[in-house]
Amino acid sequence: MRVEPAAALVGHVAVPGDKSVSHRAVLLGAIAEGDTHVRNFGRAGDTQASIDAVRALGIEVEDVADDELVVHGGALSSGAVDCANAGTLMRLLAGLLAGREGRFELTGDESLSSRPMERVGEPLRRMGAQITTTDGHAPLVIEGAELHAIDYELPVASAQVKSAILLAGLTAAGETTVVEPVPTRDHTELMLEAGGATIRRRPTSVTVARSTLRLGDVEVPGDFSSAAPLLVAAALIPGSDLTVHDVGLNPRRTGLLDVLERMGVRVSIFNRRRAGRERIGDVQVQHSQLAATELDAHEIPALVDELPLVALLAANAHGETIVRGAAELRVKESDRIEAVTDLLRATGAHVRSREDGWAVTGVPTRLRGGKVDARGDHRIAMLGAVVGLASREGVDVGGADAVAISFPGFYDVLESLVRR
Ligand code: S3P
Repeated sequence: MRVEPAAALVGHVAVPGDKSVSHRAVLLGAIAEGDTHVRNFGRAGDTQASIDAVRALGIEVEDVADDELVVHGGALSSGAVDCANAGTLMRLLAGLLAGREGRFELTGDESLSSRPMERVGEPLRRMGAQITTTDGHAPLVIEGAELHAIDYELPVASAQVKSAILLAGLTAAGETTVVEPVPTRDHTELMLEAGGATIRRRPTSVTVARSTLRLGDVEVPGDFSSAAPLLVAAALIPGSDLTVHDVGLNPRRTGLLDVLERMGVRVSIFNRRRAGRERIGDVQVQHSQLAATELDAHEIPALVDELPLVALLAANAHGETIVRGAAELRVKESDRIEAVTDLLRATGAHVRSREDGWAVTGVPTRLRGGKVDARGDHRIAMLGAVVGLASREGVDVGGADAVAISFPGFYDVLESLVRR
């Protein structure tokens, strides 16, 4: 995909439903009593894998429209599940299945098969689960077992691990508590509350007990992580003025807005409201001169998927930006620390990788541009496209179709906003 420089990004737009919430709506809908009607579902490669997964386990899912589903909850049957590229699916499903009757085998694509799975295997085994990994990776084999509650402090700040334990806790005897040193996204907790589970939340921990769910209706907010590349392009390109409507504003997801403001960007939020228990609203970003900043471990989970874009902002900001405490990026769909460093260097930026992030020396002029590769990672493909728009010479993005993992219409939406 050739992405030419843009003179500005201007207009109003909406983005597809949130990937994290869409996965949870399908997975929790599968075990809920009755029908779960999901609106503004974010149909994409990853979320389709969740639909296919529950279908493989005997659950009926009706496709009402591209962005609308009805999940007929029921008992799961034994089966083999291909989780494709979706880490969220594999980890949450492991927790969901551990205490249910049957034998389940979870596989994934090459990228997913290289990602760490003992981070869910180990705590689930403490609950009595019979789960094996393959040298710490997929394939996973789960024999449903009687589970008991545990108290578990997360060794890595991961919403996927937290969610896996909570979902296992729904079938365990006793009260399962997960302590999280740094708050991570809480979409699972919010949906469990909405579904009537026995769940108690404190500032740094959450407790669940054996429960049945009834969800009824789920309205999925627009995906903040899909809005992010558009907002960042608007922040970078002079003359831009962009508003993304109906986007999720869960405070555990919107760390990028705080960083943008710190770097000097004008961010305005209108029409704050709720979609079920999730917060949503309209976000406007206007181009401004950027100033360098620093990011530490405590704020990483609230923008973990947006960090590649933060490195790009830093490349255009006055001064040196340091990102620390982000070693988790090395085990995402690609090693995002190296992927971002290589991509930004290839297009003219001054970036040094650190074990846990980057040091970026910003220059407040457009990057040159060049040729980059997405490495099969949707967020890297989107980064490459945003660099292209904000560059002098444009960018050739190899493997650009990786965006379909989370945002199949990404290039069309970009094109509708670009002024040339
Ligand atoms: C997700 C949690 C995060 C995030 C991923 C989606 C979720 O992963 O990077 O894109 O839906 O719970 P970790 O829990 O591994 O940090």
